Amino acid sequence: MDKQPLLPDNTTERRFRNPSFRRWTFILVLLIIIGAATLRHNLFLPGNNSERLSERYEGELISWEPCVPSNGITTECSKVDVPMDHFNHGASGNRTFTIPLIRMRGANATKNLIINPGGPGMSGIEYLNDHGEQLRSIIGEGFHLLSFDPRGVNKATPLASCYPDAAAREHFSRVRFRNLEIDSPETYAWTQNFAKACSDTMGEQAKYINTPQTAADMNTILAAVGQEDMFYWGFSYGSLLGQTYAGMFPARSKRVIIDGIVNQFKWYNGTFEMESQVDTNRVFYGFLNECFKAGPVKCPLSSIATSAEQLQYIVLSSMKKLREQPLSVYLNQTAYGLLKYENLWYDVVLPALYSPSTWFTLASHLHQIILGNATDVFLASGNKDAWDLGHEGSEFIRLNDGLSGPAYWPQDRQSLLDYMIPLLNGSMFGAIHGKIFFMRQQWNIPRTHHYMPQKGVKTAHPLLILSTTYDPVCPLVSAHPAQEAFVGSRIVRINGFGHCSTSVNSSCVAKILHNFLYDGSVPETSTECEVDSSYF
Ligand SMILES: *[C@@H]1O[C@H](CO)[C@@H](O)[C@H](O)[C@H]1NC(C)=O
Ligand SMILES: *[C@@H]1O[C@H](CO)[C@@H](O)[C@H](O)[C@H]1NC(C)=O
Ligand SMILES: *[C@@H]1O[C@H](CO)[C@@H](O)[C@H](O)[C@H]1NC(C)=O
Ligand SMILES: *[C@@H]1O[C@H](CO)[C@@H](O)[C@H](O)[C@H]1NC(C)=O
Ligand SMILES: *[C@@H]1O[C@H](CO)[C@@H](O)[C@H](O)[C@H]1NC(C)=O
Ligand SMILES: *[C@@H]1O[C@H](CO)[C@@H](O)[C@H](O)[C@H]1NC(C)=O
Ligand SMILES: *[C@@H]1O[C@H](CO)[C@@H](O)[C@H](O)[C@H]1NC(C)=O
Repeated sequence: MDKQPLLPDNTTERRFRNPSFRRWTFILVLLIIIGAATLRHNLFLPGNNSERLSERYEGELISWEPCVPSNGITTECSKVDVPMDHFNHGASGNRTFTIPLIRMRGANATKNLIINPGGPGMSGIEYLNDHGEQLRSIIGEGFHLLSFDPRGVNKATPLASCYPDAAAREHFSRVRFRNLEIDSPETYAWTQNFAKACSDTMGEQAKYINTPQTAADMNTILAAVGQEDMFYWGFSYGSLLGQTYAGMFPARSKRVIIDGIVNQFKWYNGTFEMESQVDTNRVFYGFLNECFKAGPVKCPLSSIATSAEQLQYIVLSSMKKLREQPLSVYLNQTAYGLLKYENLWYDVVLPALYSPSTWFTLASHLHQIILGNATDVFLASGNKDAWDLGHEGSEFIRLNDGLSGPAYWPQDRQSLLDYMIPLLNGSMFGAIHGKIFFMRQQWNIPRTHHYMPQKGVKTAHPLLILSTTYDPVCPLVSAHPAQEAFVGSRIVRINGFGHCSTSVNSSCVAKILHNFLYDGSVPETSTECEVDSSYF
């Protein structure tokens, strides 16, 4: 199909300068408007998206524009300004954050379901573009899906940043930290600069980039769309945001779904990293076991071993070998490089554990590496840091939420190492968290929020808590403190591997979500769901 020209062609313009043409056009347009007003209900039938976008819902204070289309889905965009400090308007003056919004309308929706994808630091706008259709297929047409870039994140302004621009980030952000002990002298020295650069770059707004402020921002968003009750679905760190919201605004928490749970008690008043990784090894072994069970046709990697244990042994040995000797990949004079253990393990294997739908690809990459060929994985990963968001929203939020700075942390390197190594070394992926401990030690921005999680909070409606049995970063054990925090809340356990309920297909979960959102039905205590499809 040809593309529509973006500019009006000259003929149209010339015709418009002719007075009689203009008069007739005017009358015609008037008739169309009158006709459209009479037929309004027909015109706004679901499916006619371009027309429907111009409809403004009752009580809404903001207007929406069609977003720049992404992935072929129809969305509308808007934004709201939020005070810098919700809890002390005096401190804000006229300073604000601007929060961009995105919405996918539901064909027969009246309520907005607010979505947060996690991180912290992930963009709700990008998430809805990438996963909106999947969420829609789970919950149906009865809700608008509304998401946003939280303060400090992505397209929100000002952006949480420790660098004046992208070139400076590229230059100053390099530091080795993925080998806890060996890299620690460098990480320790680097972080001292990092902390100073963060507060210098962000200035006054730095200390208001935190989760309780973002929770309050969601009330500004609700006000903008004329909705009193919170309907919310938050994934991963989004479960922390959801718990924070429900703790701060229990009376407005009508339907709060938290999916892939973070322990809020540890997040705000301790360290959550150790608990976060209690099941990571299990997911890694689960991946290999499922591969072996699937057999050589569905998972060719399994052909190199005669038992699941042997497969684990061969894969781990090949990782050890790679640690000692990186592989070279050469395509041509402009495309070549090294595949290093650190990149493979933390930027390829760890993210793949989140999503079983990528396990086939992961297995095939590992298979090729074991056969000595790293080309495909090198090309697929681009040899990039998988965790780089292009801003420091994640760091600001984590460091400002929790216990940071000299009041809580010993200031020398060795004492910090002695504290953190036993917390992190139980997980094969623990070193990914090494850097944040040094950042906590050096952080000099004061905590400005007063939220502390409580047990036994009574919300307007019980919370729905979803967790897989083995989640690589938000383990099932973290669901229990969430249940203790919120009276009547229920845990639904999805018997499978992966990060959050959306990493697997389960019609059982879809039904529970549907009943909860539409009718408010709360599942039985200790409900379990099965996964619909196999992993390979
Ligand atoms: C905010 O207030 C300050 C001082 O009160 C003033 O100088 C500044 O122009 C104001 N900024 C905006 C965007 O209104
Ligand atoms: C929503 O609209 C679709 C058709 O547009 C209809 O099939 C469906 O039953 C409606 N759902 C509800 C809950 O009203
Ligand atoms: C925070 O943690 C400390 C140390 O574990 C504990 O003594 C204190 O009671 C906790 N505070 C709150 C508000 O939970
Ligand atoms: C080198 O290989 C890369 C990756 O396959 C390709 O995109 C690029 O066009 C190649 N460049 C040359 C000069 O052949
Ligand atoms: C490595 O794999 C790539 C992509 O599958 C292939 O094109 C290349 O020929 C292989 N190299 C060797 C040395 O087998
Ligand atoms: C983790 O560190 C502790 C203390 O240094 C040590 O006793 C333990 O054996 C280590 N565990 C692993 C799995 O390396
Ligand atoms: C879930 O189903 C979709 C569509 O059938 C499929 O593309 C996806 O890979 C499945 N996910 C998993 C984890 O099986």
